[in-house]
Amino acid sequence: YKRITVKTLVDMKSKGEKISMLTAYDYTMAKIVDGAGIDVILVGDSASNVMAGHETTLPITLDQMIYHASSVVRAIERSLVVVDLPFGSYQSDPKEALRSAIRIMKESGGHAVKMEGGKEVKESIKRILNAGIPVMGHLGLTPQSIYKFGTYTVRAKEDQEAKQLKEDALMLEKAGCFGIVLEKIPAALAKEVAESVSIPVIGIGAGAGVDGQVLVLHDMLGMTHEFNPRFLRRYMNLYEEMTTAIGQYVDDVKSEDFPNDEEQY
Ligand code: KIV
Ligand code: NA
Repeated sequence: YKRITVKTLVDMKSKGEKISMLTAYDYTMAKIVDGAGIDVILVGDSASNVMAGHETTLPITLDQMIYHASSVVRAIERSLVVVDLPFGSYQSDPKEALRSAIRIMKESGGHAVKMEGGKEVKESIKRILNAGIPVMGHLGLTPQSIYKFGTYTVRAKEDQEAKQLKEDALMLEKAGCFGIVLEKIPAALAKEVAESVSIPVIGIGAGAGVDGQVLVLHDMLGMTHEFNPRFLRRYMNLYEEMTTAIGQYVDDVKSEDFPNDEEQY
């Protein structure tokens, strides 16, 4: 695929080709991620944690999301860029949701928006889709509702919540979403949902029975080391490698090893 579109993703699902997705929040990282062949880049509101150091995703603003997203968009050649609508930018009413989605599309150049929730955001989703903006849903552990949940443990283990999640997934498909993220729910439930809809279901902590996987870039690169959920596979230990490299630089400066004769004018 030369350029990934929302249609490409639906085609991938129908062919049984798994979809790869990672977050990115800045130009330099996005350029690497795009060049390495990722299908979808998510400018996640996890930037609130990863980039800004907040404990939750709630504080990040629409302006800050647009700043991150525009940096990512300038870097990419092939990936589809999906941008999270941050907490407080879409919950009041569908008009506010549309205004926020339009700002993201106009000011960042992103290709689609993602929002958390099921039936409670149905009207907002429809309004945004009516404006021609592709929408991705997000169900299960939705971090913008962390104070309602009170814990980051697995969601939808009880029948009632699982039943609601299945209904919400069908609603998101019917409303016209091009995909759904399922976060931290039992693998069997996620598989059942993925099989019940024709749009791609991308999982994080949702098992292998879905249509694709997403991880937070800094977590999978091992830059973070305090966050250790079972679903996280680390492909590098950048925390250690960077600490070693920076320590070496400090030593070289102190010992006057750096710069050497070739490293000056
Ligand atoms: O903000 C984010 O990184 C996300 C993914 C974890 C799905 O929403
Ligand atoms: Na998010």
